[in-house]
Amino acid sequence: MSKQIRLNAFNMNCVGHIHHGLWKHPRDNSVDYNKPDYWIELAQLPERGLFDNVFLADIVGVYDVLGDGIDVTAREAVQLPVNEPTYVIPLMAHATRHLGFGVTCNLTYEYPYLFARRMATLDHLTMGRLAWNIVTGYLDSAARGVGLKQQIDHDDRYDRGDDFLAAFYKLLEGSWEDGAVLADRVRATYAGPARIHRVFHDGPYYKVDGVYNLTEPSPQRTPVLFQAGASQRGKRFAGSQGAGEDRRQHPHAGGRGRAALRRHQDFFRPGTAASRNPAILRERVIGDYYLNGAVAPVPMAATPERASAAERN
Ligand SMILES: Cc1cc2nc3c(=O)[nH]c(=O)nc-3n(C[C@H](O)[C@H](O)[C@H](O)COP(=O)(O)O)c2cc1C
Repeated sequence: MSKQIRLNAFNMNCVGHIHHGLWKHPRDNSVDYNKPDYWIELAQLPERGLFDNVFLADIVGVYDVLGDGIDVTAREAVQLPVNEPTYVIPLMAHATRHLGFGVTCNLTYEYPYLFARRMATLDHLTMGRLAWNIVTGYLDSAARGVGLKQQIDHDDRYDRGDDFLAAFYKLLEGSWEDGAVLADRVRATYAGPARIHRVFHDGPYYKVDGVYNLTEPSPQRTPVLFQAGASQRGKRFAGSQGAGEDRRQHPHAGGRGRAALRRHQDFFRPGTAASRNPAILRERVIGDYYLNGAVAPVPMAATPERASAAERN
């Protein structure tokens, strides 16, 4: 079989994403980020070029540490101003048919009950083309914006993430059965109440006390999940929850040729096992879990031992 390549466009709902200073170029139109046509073009262009996905980064908070203020951040538009990332997705979905949409949302400042509705609404409006890049934040300024003194500790944020996801799955997967929606005009019954169930979640951080999920099932129910943390705890979270992991930030990802590829693989191997093995132990099926494998192909198998053996061959 011929090999397939996945193409993903990367942007953020702001002027200065990661290519700082580029907004000043006469042919750059990032300053139009707050206009609908900007996003429609951003969707239609990659779809025409057979891209698979548009991926939107996001941060909550601002970079206010350098010089104890936002002088550079504001002058250079370093991810400030930054608009809410989810609103542009229905614009892009309406203008395309096949493109997927990955959106970054920070779970630390959300509640599963409300967030599940937001994701399901987007999954409806994209007709099942949604992915959520799960982040837990890294800025104290965000924490202060919601009344905390500083960020919640690193590993605690991932612990909260596990709990959040457990409630999130229950809401989206466990409340409305398939077939609960009848839309039966003759019998004047939109949905069958016997097939809509209460959700209970009593976790260490989040409680959901006998509520019905607000949305009817969307095409995917749970969107495709991404997670990019590279710490040991982050990888464990990715293996347990995410469908994809992004390793682009690693400093060793440069270089060409077979020797460079071998170096990459050696570098990635311990991390690969750290995130892949929780996925295997949760009996996630092959194909349900991907690492960004451009430089480090990741074999999956029925057990961690077999996966490691396959990796060595
Ligand atoms: C490629 C990549 C993209 C990321 N994009 C975002 C983002 O858009 N928003 C965000 O809040 N964090 C983003 N992060 C940060 C991670 O979610 C995470 O907070 C960070 O890597 C620290 O977690 P760790 O200690 O587990 O690595 C990104 C990280 C990487 C590697």
